[in-house]
Amino acid sequence: MAESLFIDSSLSKTEKYQSLLPQIKALTESESDIIANLANICSALKYGMDFFWIGFYLVKENQLVLGPFQGTVACTRIDFDKGVCGACYREQKTLIVPDVEAFPGHIACSSLSRSEIVVPIFNHGSVAMVLDVDSTLLDDYDEIDKKYLEEIARWIEEKLI
Ligand code: SME
Repeated sequence: MAESLFIDSSLSKTEKYQSLLPQIKALTESESDIIANLANICSALKYGMDFFWIGFYLVKENQLVLGPFQGTVACTRIDFDKGVCGACYREQKTLIVPDVEAFPGHIACSSLSRSEIVVPIFNHGSVAMVLDVDSTLLDDYDEIDKKYLEEIARWIEEKLI
């Protein structure tokens, strides 16, 4: 496996994702432990994309429970009817929130978070976890992030779960 990742900070967002994705796949494809892989995916994306916060919430015991993440400490349990993560779980689709303060029920794990994208990850047709990425900037996520984060979600579903 690759033991370090290389990313050129002068690249565009699309180029960064295109450079990172093959490296993330190489980093995780021969490891069978899902937690180890999710942890490395968080680190690769946090440092490769300069995200403020990135983490997985895993479906456990009828809640979303904090899994591997990179960033400041976060709330550990989210009910399915709460927050952007809960909405993503219920709606089973990627949610882009350009202004978290305008999203009813948003859970502020950090007062610095301004915008957010949450991507569902499925196992046998049900949402098994969500990938949550937070930014300190308003309106920081777009269709480019959706495309590549969903590609990572499909990789996790097909190769890692
Ligand atoms: N903001 C999320 C909660 C998770 S933290 O941002 C890490 C939400 O509203 O579901």
